[in-house]
Amino acid sequence: MTILNAVHVTEYPMQLERILHSQGFGARKLCRILVRSNRVTVNGLPCDDPFAEFATDGLHFSVDGETWPYQPQVYLMLHKPAGFECSTRPTHHPGVLSLLPAPIRERGVQSIGRLDEDTTGLLLFSDDGQFIHRMSSPKWKVPKIYQATTKHAVDQRQIDLLLQGVLLNDETEPIAALGCSALSEHVLQLTLGEGKYHQVKRMVAAAGNRVEALKRTAIGNLLLPDDLAPGQWRWLDAAAREQLLPAAD
Ligand code: URA
Repeated sequence: MTILNAVHVTEYPMQLERILHSQGFGARKLCRILVRSNRVTVNGLPCDDPFAEFATDGLHFSVDGETWPYQPQVYLMLHKPAGFECSTRPTHHPGVLSLLPAPIRERGVQSIGRLDEDTTGLLLFSDDGQFIHRMSSPKWKVPKIYQATTKHAVDQRQIDLLLQGVLLNDETEPIAALGCSALSEHVLQLTLGEGKYHQVKRMVAAAGNRVEALKRTAIGNLLLPDDLAPGQWRWLDAAAREQLLPAAD
């Protein structure tokens, strides 16, 4: 059993205004007004009583016609497009948080690790501090798979160097890729256990090539789905979260 397995507790019924507040729809007073203004349905039925109580397990609600599943905590994946910064205070480009709906941003989600502004691919978000810590901790070395399009043709010497380990500036020990192979003449697939600053770009440069485009395609056993377009996001259910930490048992 991993610490990611949800602890099953009996779900107590919750008042509707508290439910909406917990899901990022603003202060309780505001949520009360939303409900009293007939803008909310619960499990498909209109409800104008902010103090009506509902079991939250499996609950769906809608606000102004948009349906949401009740989520005790936020776990989601985004297909990050190029041109967005992972910083919470972006400077030169819009931030990745702007790609998420306001109620999710309101819940204080953070990206788990960062991708460069020009890197695309799988990026996770959560508001669960323990989960974020577990996913980011160097102790667990959660493998991340990248596809790097390179300026020069990939050769076996570069692959061998990346697998043996290259010494990066500011590091005292060489860092080795957990896996490395050529997918085509100009595309390298690299699996890394760490998440150091510009790590793929620096490692590939140290091996004598140059990254021209970079995409993260997997974290642990969780693949970026083919049908998740750049800029789209999706909730991560418990089974998807289990796939993130394959070696954690
Ligand atoms: N390595 C990089 O160089 N950039 C990223 O965005 C992620 C890993």
